[in-house]
Amino acid sequence: RRYEYIQVSEPKPGVGQVTLNRPKALNALCTPLIKELNQALGELNASDSVSAIILTGSQRAFAAGADIKEMQPLTFSKAYTTSFIEEWSNLTTQVKKPIIAAVSGHALGGGCELAMMCDILYCTEGANFGQPEIKLGTIPGAGGSQRLTRAIGKSRAMELILTGKPFSGVEAGQWGLAARTFATYEELMEGALKTAETIAGYSRVAVQACKEVVNKSQDLPLRDGVEFERRVFHSLFGSQDQKIGMKAFAEKKKAEWTHE
Ligand code: HXC
Repeated sequence: RRYEYIQVSEPKPGVGQVTLNRPKALNALCTPLIKELNQALGELNASDSVSAIILTGSQRAFAAGADIKEMQPLTFSKAYTTSFIEEWSNLTTQVKKPIIAAVSGHALGGGCELAMMCDILYCTEGANFGQPEIKLGTIPGAGGSQRLTRAIGKSRAMELILTGKPFSGVEAGQWGLAARTFATYEELMEGALKTAETIAGYSRVAVQACKEVVNKSQDLPLRDGVEFERRVFHSLFGSQDQKIGMKAFAEKKKAEWTHE
């Protein structure tokens, strides 16, 4: 399929990759780009040959934000009645397979928010994150105030969102927003691919369940979350792959998953 603003590939068996590709605007996230992204992620999610997904941009920019020129003339009534930005959340609701964000260069505003919607965030040390919406007379609108605060704590998130000051990949790593940081772009992409391949080597049933239970921790009180986890854990005794995995351990063999 031909896309205008993204590229889709399968760099390794089991791994799907979406590369944001609107270089002239530093991957600014216009509505048609988000529609393409949702289409591509929906297809990768449905594909039997893909187990894990990498979302990335270019070396210079993951994404420099929502498209400011598209938003400039927008009115309250238009934004409200069209639920502007709501479809960005499809990424978090329709995609059940893990998504690794590989961030190099700018990840500002909506770009930072898009990276934070992913399941694992990797970045280069020199990556340039920030929520600069305050400088445009507005606020984060795609979950930034919620996800950044949960990831790095209230005081730091408040400072960053109120000042619009950028922060580096090194800081993202130190604060726990990024799971890992890499010295170079090449190492970043290699690291993301390796992790995606590792995940793709496991039972797809168990992988989807892991993602589901970890994400529940963001929405549920601890007690309910632990109970939810236990129920899902119980349900996995109904899978073939649980039998296959534990039998392989007992027989000192490599598990051959059926994804059933
Ligand atoms: C539209 C953008 C853009 C954006 C860059 N461009 N960011 N267009 N929306 N968010 C365009 C520029 O207009 C320019 O187009 C081209 O990309 C290259 O950008 P330059 O500014 O010339 O590059 P540089 O000098 O290297 O500066 C890079 C930059 C700067 C620091 C990232 O572009 C910048 O500050 N961008 C805006 C960042 C931002 O405020 N993001 C938050 C957006 S609000 P031309 O045609 O001139 O070559 C937001 C709201 C989220 O995201 C809430 C809902 C999701």
